[in-house]
Order: sequence, then C-alpha cells, then structure tokens
Amino acid sequence: MDLYPLLRPALSRISPETAHSLAIRALRAGFGPTARTDCDPILATRVWNLDFPNPVGLAAGFDKHAEVLDPLLRMGFGFVEAGSVTPRPQPGNPKPRLFRLDEDDGVINRFGFNSEGLAPFIYRLGKRLGNGGIVGANVGKNKDTEDASEDYAAGISATCRLADYLVCNLSSPNTPGLRDLQARAEMGRLIGHALAARNESIPDPAGRPPLLVKIAPDLDDAALADIVEVVLETGADGIILGNTTLSRPASLRSAHKGETGGLSGKPLMALSTERLATLARMTKGRIPLVGCGGIASGADAYAKIRAGASLVQLYSALVFKGPGLVVRVRDELAAHLRADGFSSVAEAVGADLR
Ligand code: FNR
Repeated sequence: MDLYPLLRPALSRISPETAHSLAIRALRAGFGPTARTDCDPILATRVWNLDFPNPVGLAAGFDKHAEVLDPLLRMGFGFVEAGSVTPRPQPGNPKPRLFRLDEDDGVINRFGFNSEGLAPFIYRLGKRLGNGGIVGANVGKNKDTEDASEDYAAGISATCRLADYLVCNLSSPNTPGLRDLQARAEMGRLIGHALAARNESIPDPAGRPPLLVKIAPDLDDAALADIVEVVLETGADGIILGNTTLSRPASLRSAHKGETGGLSGKPLMALSTERLATLARMTKGRIPLVGCGGIASGADAYAKIRAGASLVQLYSALVFKGPGLVVRVRDELAAHLRADGFSSVAEAVGADLR
C-alpha cells in the first residue's frame, strides 16, 4: 500500500529542504520502500556496456553526498546518480533555496552546489562498491575555482574507479558562469581534460566507465550543434538533457514562481522533450542520450524514449508523488511499449523521429 498520500499533507507543512533531509535520514535508517524485484524483462536495456534492469533512473541532486544509493536502488530505479559533488566542501547558497510550486507540480532550486566535497563522497562510493546496481557520479566545480576544468578533472579522477558512469554537470544555473562552460571552446578543453583524467586513471579502455555531459534545456539549436560536435570530437560517451530551466512558462500559477533558480518538474516536460528530440536529430544515434526533465508518469518516460532517449531520469515528481511512483512509471512504460508492438526499450528509442 502506498502511504505517501497520507504523509503528503504533513510533509507539505514543513520546509522543502527539511522534508528532503528527513527523507535522506529515513532512507539511511532503513525506512525506504523495497520495490518488487521482478522488473518486467521488456524494460531491460543495454547501454554502453551496462545492463540496466530498467531505463528509469534517479537524477542528480537528490543524493548529493552519496549517502543512500542502495536504498534508492531498492526503490526500483534502474540506476541512481549521486552528486553533484565539488572537489572541496562548500555550503552553497543561503536558505531558503528550495521551493515547491504546488499548483504546478514544479520545483525551483538555487542550492548552488552545497557539497561535502570529494573525500566523504568517494569514501561512501567505495564502501558500497560490489553491492550491485548501476550508480553514476556527477561532478561539478567549486564556486571560487578559476580554472573549472581542473575541478572536473579532479572529480573524474577521484570517482572513476568507484562509479559505473560519470557525468560532468555543465548546466546548473546556480553557480555563476557554469553554463558558459557549454560554449564550444571551453567545453572542448574541459571535456578533453576530464576524459584524459579518466583515461590516465584507468589505462585499460575496457575498464573505463562512460563519461557523459549534462546540459541545459535552455540551449538553442546552434548551441546544441556545437555541443554535439565537441562530444563527438572528444569522444565523450553520452549527453544528459537536461538540467533545470531558467525559463518560466506563462502557465505557472504558484506563489513561488518568481524565485530565482532552476525550474524542474511538470512545467519542464514539454521544453526538455522538444530539445531532446532536436538533439537526437543531430546525434543520429551515434551516442546514447539520457532524457530528463518533468517525467511524472510512464507516458512521460515513453515520450522521452520516443524522442530519442536510451535512458530517462526523474527527480521532482518524487516530491509530489512519493517513492511508489518509480514502480508505477516502470509498469506504465512497459504497457506503452507492448501496446505499440515494441519488444524492447531499444526498439522504441527515437520512434517519433523516424
Ligand atoms: C537538481 N538537479 C541537479 N542536477 C545536477 O546535475 N546536479 C545537482 O546537484 C542537482 N541538484 C538538484 C537539486 C534539486 C532540488 C532539484 C529539483 C534538481 C537537476 C535534476 O537532476 C534534473 O536534471 C532536473 O530536476 C530535471 O528533472 P525533474 O526534476 O524535472 O525530473
């Protein structure tokens, strides 16, 4: 039985950041739900050299400090992304910095990379190594670092032996100048350094985890084309589209809609899926794409897959629907695939582009 609807009114009376801390504490104490383990075989999918039990992942930002990765995997996610982590600890922006847009099923955050730093992050990743499940490490930069590429390289070096895939987050709107790293020359240098850091740490190409770039949903076609070129030139392995948006759809009704920060959740679904489809038309299947932004149902996940995503991620919808959502999204996605005659996730990837 899903108890979340009963808890929701109580949770909505406390600050969203306190509710999030409580959720982490509950998961750490073992109060997390355990999903059915019999994941529908139609959802199993192989991307890079990784076998995902299902394509529905938890996006970065929920478990920033890698504290509860195994309880999150038990919730039914096909993979979980830890971070973003910065090399050195930093407090992030002053509170309040997280806002629920209840009428819109949206969230605005301006955390600004609050991070405990790499040391405890890699300690925790190391401690759970061998537990199974697919875990990603998402790295960012400290606010006061001049040469961003050094921070990303440091994050990749530290985490590359401890995670199944790596992500350079170039798209948080809450660290001044971060999104400028998506410009062509900067990004080429940065991704080049990050890949070199991974390759030096792991000399055997077969043992290297894929390195992905996470980008904003606010990029125009020219900027997306530049990114595709850089990614293909440097040999990065995939793109996550995407992060939160700085845009504010006219449809927003909640009191907090004017808060500074990145918007996520339902109001981001249309924009991020449209940008994903454009990106997929440019990459033409040459590298896997991860669709993220506004997923709250199996139909949403399916729409991202049909728009070109090999895998999907969600975060904000958990705030409104609770942990039972994960299995619902999985089940609905499997039903959509079957209804349209697909026998695997891979067959449906990019179906709307053909
Ligand atoms: C995020 N997101 C995020 N992304 C990232 O790469 N590093 C991070 O540290 C964070 N932190 C973070 C905090 C909070 C409170 C939210 C809501 C989001 C972005 C997240 O991973 C995702 O890309 C977007 O939220 C869009 O997906 P949803 O939430 O609409 O499913």
